[in-house]
Amino acid sequence: MDYKKIIANMTLEEKALQLSQVAAADIIQDADAVVTGISHSGVPQEHLGELGSALNFSGIEAAEKIRSASFAKKNKPLLLMQDVVHGYKTVYPLNIAIGGTFDLELAEKCAEMSAIEARANGVNVTFAPMVDLVRDARWGRVNESTGEDPYLNGLMGRASIRGYRKGGIACCVKHFAAYGAAESGRDYNTTDISDHALHEYYLKSYLECLKEKPDMVMTSFNLLNGIPMNGHTELLVDLLREQEGFDGVVISDYGGIGEMISHGYAEDFKECARIAANNEVDIDMCSLAYANHLPELVREGKVSEEKVDRMVERVLRLKDKLGLYQNASVGIDEESDKTYCLSGGAREIARRAAEDGSVLLENNGVLPLEKDAKICLIGPYAQTQELMGEWACLGKTENVVSVKEGVEKLTDKSVPAVSACSAHWNATDESGFDEALRTAKKSDIIVACMGEYCKESGESHSRAAITLAALQVKLLHKLKETGKKIVLVLFAGRPLALTEVAPLADAILFCWHPGVEGGNAIANLLYGEVNPNGKITMSFPRSVGQCPIYYNYFSSGRPKNPDTAENYLYTTSYLDELNSPLYPFGYGLSYTKFELSEIGISSSEMKRGERVIVSATLKNTGKRDGREVVQLYIHDKFGSCARPVKELKGFQKIALVAGEERRVRFEISEETLAYFTASGEYRAEEGKFEIMLGTNSRDVLKTKLNLYS
Ligand code: BGC
Repeated sequence: MDYKKIIANMTLEEKALQLSQVAAADIIQDADAVVTGISHSGVPQEHLGELGSALNFSGIEAAEKIRSASFAKKNKPLLLMQDVVHGYKTVYPLNIAIGGTFDLELAEKCAEMSAIEARANGVNVTFAPMVDLVRDARWGRVNESTGEDPYLNGLMGRASIRGYRKGGIACCVKHFAAYGAAESGRDYNTTDISDHALHEYYLKSYLECLKEKPDMVMTSFNLLNGIPMNGHTELLVDLLREQEGFDGVVISDYGGIGEMISHGYAEDFKECARIAANNEVDIDMCSLAYANHLPELVREGKVSEEKVDRMVERVLRLKDKLGLYQNASVGIDEESDKTYCLSGGAREIARRAAEDGSVLLENNGVLPLEKDAKICLIGPYAQTQELMGEWACLGKTENVVSVKEGVEKLTDKSVPAVSACSAHWNATDESGFDEALRTAKKSDIIVACMGEYCKESGESHSRAAITLAALQVKLLHKLKETGKKIVLVLFAGRPLALTEVAPLADAILFCWHPGVEGGNAIANLLYGEVNPNGKITMSFPRSVGQCPIYYNYFSSGRPKNPDTAENYLYTTSYLDELNSPLYPFGYGLSYTKFELSEIGISSSEMKRGERVIVSATLKNTGKRDGREVVQLYIHDKFGSCARPVKELKGFQKIALVAGEERRVRFEISEETLAYFTASGEYRAEEGKFEIMLGTNSRDVLKTKLNLYS
């Protein structure tokens, strides 16, 4: 396709509209408007056909309406984008759960299946993967991320990109950059990050994703070191475009370009448009700064037309690549929408992801349950179908399997269930407690299904208290007084501080928001049909005052044993809390027992350019088959920059039948040991390293390595 020729025939106004995105709902309203001149989208009706893209719509009918003849003029197809974040009609568990599967193939499959459904419904591009590094559970959007480790996030992001591509839609790596570092865990808040931390931690996952050649990158809302991201030349131009050679489409976040006014960085929308365009933010999502001001800015010589043409070309190229010029409704397929969405295959993957992403945090032997155990289900999650979580996309609650349904199907008997109270953080109504307690007393084991309401994490849903809601804690205390065993099944979009509730439970199964197959997955886990194998990818704090808390911290000049309360004076510590999390990164139990032993290294001396193998024996010493995630960590003991006490550098998920053992091997190269050194180079520095293997980030076996030249 001759993009140059098409662009040469476009007016400046047409170019500005190609670079503008508006909400699909507004376009539909405008298309339906009887009186000409009314505009919900902010774009005059007669120019709607020039728009380059629209976002978030509800399926085939809406897609066709948006593309209806009036706007999808010949050769001017519209890109339709949507937040397909953890599923489309089949809703998978939250990404924080998918990360915890430590299974890249499964993550890829979830993305692929979501993409197939989305494509059949007219979606061309998804605003995913979100690969922001998250260290503060107060931030509501931790549920969209795969957690606190840059290495894992990068690999998970890449797996999703491969999946979306296989499923036939383009994707968008977001939110560039460091959106997850919002101060105080408050969404949209400022970030202030040293150059070293930015390169070493916050940028890594986005840059890793670029290796998969994603089609788009989204800029974030935050201020980074005083500059709003849409104005951040150093990151957008110098790093992303020039150093990394990214020539795909950069899109702002929703209204983000116009928000430079509230940031106190630009005086008006025209100035916003000038700044963002000069940083080659190609698409203005929903601020209309480009639509209203770009032509004028070009005429005044404040933005070069050559630059605008380059930006338009990127958008046209993406449309061409997706096949929109051959068929403006590319991918739309009613038949496959009917047969594929929520089909057995999609549900099976959703169930596997929910099973493998749920984490067994505690178990004194009460789990797995016997099928004939006399149980009851108590709590706001006992029988609700609201298990889909934040970005439920086109998922419908009626398609969700509740815990009650899943358990009854598996055990083939009816199980008493009482919701008892609401899951909202500020709920106060105890009127359901009596029935709950009466029911509890008639059973032997209480399965308490509790947690955060599904819309109380996610965008714009930060919390200052990240405990289980007070009303549910009260209910749990009352349930404990019955003397019955308690299995606590928890649902949440963030790690919760469980210090008060953990001692009340005989077992805790943490299921995040598990998606449409939640109930079946939970039943399989509770009854041991599936052996729990998920791990947490964020440290679970003991109390909110520890946030941000993460496993790859620095020892400080006055280190303290993170797990003991003694000798705290003049060491880095709290008077009233331990330093360690309640549950560490990479942690998760199983119904069998895994033992890791006999760490060995092929050579404790490694010359530059060489490789060594570190290995250990993993044995399933329990009575059940199971899967365990063996994790490789390193510690660079002395460097030109101080290095964290541990850094994840590899993982393998190993399946072993009861009694089986296997030698697990990891290769270590200079690349494994490299980091952004004080001189800004990414390289391994000679000297001493600790090499660690473990089944979580706390309990590790250690060996030594020396790098020399
Ligand atoms: C969110 C993005 C999302 C966009 C479009 C914004 O508010 O921050 O993650 O992709 O909306 O829905």
